[in-house]
Amino acid sequence: MNDHETTDHGTSTALVPAAGDGHDLLPASMIRDADQFENPGLPPHVHRAADDHPDAAKRAERQVATMFGLSMLATLVFLVSYFAIPDEATFFFPGIGVAKTQNVVLGLSLGFAIFLIGIGAVHWAKTLMSDEEIVEERHLQASTGEQRAKAVAMVTAGVESTQLTRRPVLKYTLGGALGLFALPLGLQVAGSLGPVNVEELKHTIWDPAENGGKPIRLMRDPEMTPIRFDEVTNGSVFHVMPETLQKHIDEGKHVLEAKAKAAVILIRLDPDKIKVQKAKDWGVDGVVAYSKICTHVGCAVGLYEQQTHHLLCPCHQSTFDLTEDCAVIFGPAKRPLPQLKITVDDAGYLVAPEGFHEPVGPSFWERAR
Ligand code: FES
Repeated sequence: MNDHETTDHGTSTALVPAAGDGHDLLPASMIRDADQFENPGLPPHVHRAADDHPDAAKRAERQVATMFGLSMLATLVFLVSYFAIPDEATFFFPGIGVAKTQNVVLGLSLGFAIFLIGIGAVHWAKTLMSDEEIVEERHLQASTGEQRAKAVAMVTAGVESTQLTRRPVLKYTLGGALGLFALPLGLQVAGSLGPVNVEELKHTIWDPAENGGKPIRLMRDPEMTPIRFDEVTNGSVFHVMPETLQKHIDEGKHVLEAKAKAAVILIRLDPDKIKVQKAKDWGVDGVVAYSKICTHVGCAVGLYEQQTHHLLCPCHQSTFDLTEDCAVIFGPAKRPLPQLKITVDDAGYLVAPEGFHEPVGPSFWERAR
């Protein structure tokens, strides 16, 4: 293929040198297409009265000057009335009522001043300023053949200077290194698409295994004191942590993540208001416990509307209906808040005999309900 040919989608197209201006090599098809449209040119210039008749031009000049003069007058009225009109002066304006004289005069005079400058300028432009349309030709966008040849020479010299063509071993080893380097990236993507360990997501320090298989007491957060069933009155709300948290703290474990997953809200409402049997069964006489971690993106659902029995997440307003097993009734969350099964131990304290039955916190597409 020589300098006057190129390939466009696999088709060889002849390139036509343009005559002697240095901007050569335009595809012949483009030249043909351009020739199909006739340049409509500019519409003929229509002469205005002021273009041909000095009297008309003089009249237009006077009109513009009058508008600017009136604008000056309006500005003077503004300045004088600012000082001259007493602040307390009022007058009756039909349709509006009593108005402050100074405000009205200042507003009107300033409005007229700027309006007259505007229409004076427009009238000036339309009658006196030149209205001939001027076309500025756009220069050709393509580089000259000389510039392109120079660019190709620079790239070729750059490739030559790497000595890749003279030392093929470098070429092949570089290709191998880069090719292999892509594999770990692909592996990370492929690996992260695998099945999620839902059991691990479900695990919290509410699991009885964390307490030697024994039920775990519900503790007030942050006091970490156990909650007796008879202390939970109708309508009351407790922020709750498992007693196992203290054990983790005492053992010097890193508890931040465990604590974030274990936050629970405990509420008592009239058991007859709870419409879902499972929610009733997992509570004690209307005392129910739910994960406090919003299933949207994990904020703490800390607002309880006692009258409507709605739990609200302050971050994006997801609303969960306590009477419907914390079903989402508004907002971006997609899953109900997971319920924690509770009961009362022999000493009268609230305990969780089992951990959560589903992962707490934000939803992911591969997470089972
Ligand atoms: S985190 Fe609760 S609504 Fe977004």
